Amino acid sequence: MHQFLPYAWFGGKCVPFAEATISVATHALHYGTGAFGGMRALPNPADPHEILLFRADRHARRLSQSAKLLLTELGEETILSAITTFLRTNKPNCPVYLRPFVYTSDLGIAPRLHNIETDFLIYGLELGDYLSPEGVSCRISSWCRQEDRSLPLRGKISGAYITSSLAKTEAVKSGFDEALLLNSRGKVSEASGMNLFMVRDGVLITPGVDQDILEGITRASVLELAKAMGIPTLERPVDKTELFIADEVFLSGTAAKVTPVRRIETTDLATKRPIMDAIRERLTAITEGRDPAYDHWVTRVRLQD
Ligand SMILES: Cc1ncc(COP(=O)(O)O)c(C=O)c1O
Repeated sequence: MHQFLPYAWFGGKCVPFAEATISVATHALHYGTGAFGGMRALPNPADPHEILLFRADRHARRLSQSAKLLLTELGEETILSAITTFLRTNKPNCPVYLRPFVYTSDLGIAPRLHNIETDFLIYGLELGDYLSPEGVSCRISSWCRQEDRSLPLRGKISGAYITSSLAKTEAVKSGFDEALLLNSRGKVSEASGMNLFMVRDGVLITPGVDQDILEGITRASVLELAKAMGIPTLERPVDKTELFIADEVFLSGTAAKVTPVRRIETTDLATKRPIMDAIRERLTAITEGRDPAYDHWVTRVRLQD
């Protein structure tokens, strides 16, 4: 059972989590017409009265853009100010995952995005490691990542997660930890809730934004960090067979952080991952507020003045 934070942001204010409830007739529940964010909030290991948020501005921007793709307005400032109030009310004392969610809150049955009420909520839960930091086994999913011409993949649209759910369960039920999805052109896209990287001959490679990926904030950060660390990077289409012979394969995401891939289908991958190790160490230091060069990636929320 998840340990939820005691207050949710609901109807424009913080209310006890148990009171933040919606009707069975809520439009988004039936049609997947919502969009969410996912952020980690970490008590500063050096100062328990301060909460650290990794790239909060980017998360707010993506959520605001996701709302726009659902034809509703949700400003970045509105999101950030609600998150600040939410954190000051909850005062988390362990690492938590925040789930802001914008959705069609109307009661009614016509699938549509016009003439409809929307609302915005936030809740949080304690979250340690979503995937084992030691590494995961992956199955190539029989499900295919959706195409941008079917739904707006630049947004974290809740309805899109039916494919992630099918792929994850298929992988787990067949003895794997995670699923890798190809896109409709047969190229590697991403995992059920993470982006994918591989290293070949010293070059860090990831499928480009034209490969039906979610434009991950961790992915963008890994690419930017790698460049700053002198690691050559390439965004290009990736073939399935490349994964089996890559020097390193790893996943990136807010929940998964940086997670190595140990095995794909029946192929064991290399166990030395110097490039991933260097990036993971740097990213951990940044998220814990220990890297002054990247302090601009960290938003610090004071819980007490
Ligand atoms: C489908 C999918 N891809 C990739 C990611 C990674 O994105 P981020 O690094 O912004 O968390 C996520 C998680 O948000 C996701 O749900």
